[in-house]
Amino acid sequence: MRKCRLCEKPAEIYISSHNLALCREDFIENFERRVERTIRKFKMLDKRERVLVAISGGKDSLALIHLLNKLGYRATGYHIDLGIGDYSRESLERVREFRKREGVEIIVESVRDEFGMGIGEISKRVKQPPCSVCGTIKRYMFNRAARNFDSIATGHNLDDEIATLMGNVLNWQTEYLARQYPVLESRDSLKKKIKPFVFVSEYETATYAFVENIPYILEECPYSTGAKSIFYKEILNRVEERMTGTKLRFLSGFLKHRHLFLASGERKIDLKPCIKCGYMTTSDICQFCRLKERINDKRRQSWQKFSPE
Ligand code: AMP
Ligand code: FES
Ligand code: ZN
Repeated sequence: MRKCRLCEKPAEIYISSHNLALCREDFIENFERRVERTIRKFKMLDKRERVLVAISGGKDSLALIHLLNKLGYRATGYHIDLGIGDYSRESLERVREFRKREGVEIIVESVRDEFGMGIGEISKRVKQPPCSVCGTIKRYMFNRAARNFDSIATGHNLDDEIATLMGNVLNWQTEYLARQYPVLESRDSLKKKIKPFVFVSEYETATYAFVENIPYILEECPYSTGAKSIFYKEILNRVEERMTGTKLRFLSGFLKHRHLFLASGERKIDLKPCIKCGYMTTSDICQFCRLKERINDKRRQSWQKFSPE
């Protein structure tokens, strides 16, 4: 039986990318130390600042808020109930269970309270794909909820990050490449965004959540089936199986050469406050308020259809 590299106890966890076999306790310590190193290296956060952690109910974001609080950071959770049937109901249940167990503050807001319906219905009404509507709404609600915080943290891990990177490289989306970074400083209505898990894999965050007894939802969002990011993850996993360490090298190599793309991200975009809500946007009305208007128009139309003359 393999022994823990650090203490000679039987090893329970093997991290192939680092060729490291560890016992449970040393894995936890090693994982937390690596994440803290990322936080320091990219100047994401210090212990006086208040961070709002966007929590989906999945392993990554719950593990992240758990770790941040454990290490003494001032983290508050924020969950959006997206109104996607059983998936959202179960996510909310896991979030509540976690909140009760860990005694952390978690703010919950709901898309239904904002729009009177969930993501699926909004997507049908405005004839846009659910993930695109969902992205607009989440981005807006994160920034609004973080008004009194220093930054927003998300649970994106190494696999998420390199799947995005692969998509951006395959299509040479140089503007997106210029903006893909573990930290995005605040500008206009957008809060500083940090991704402390970018150098740890999905396998590691899942293992950490498991050994730390964190309750999380296993299911993926039903709208994510067939998503390109899942396909890219499968390909990258196959490459990693044949060539260990590729995933980490792909991300660190990109970060080393990212300056090559920076000029593409410098396009100055003129932003002005949304006339409805003040959020900085490129047109008169921001995308979120436009969605709201379109939904309300549609509601008025269907109401008129059924009301007697
Ligand atoms: P995803 O886009 O589903 O891979 O999620 C990426 C990150 O966004 C997660 O790690 C969370 O930090 C955040 N997130 C996703 N869904 C929600 C949600 N419903 N409420 C709050 N944060 C979320
Ligand atoms: Fe947004 Fe699935 S989480 S559409
Ligand atoms: Zn607006």
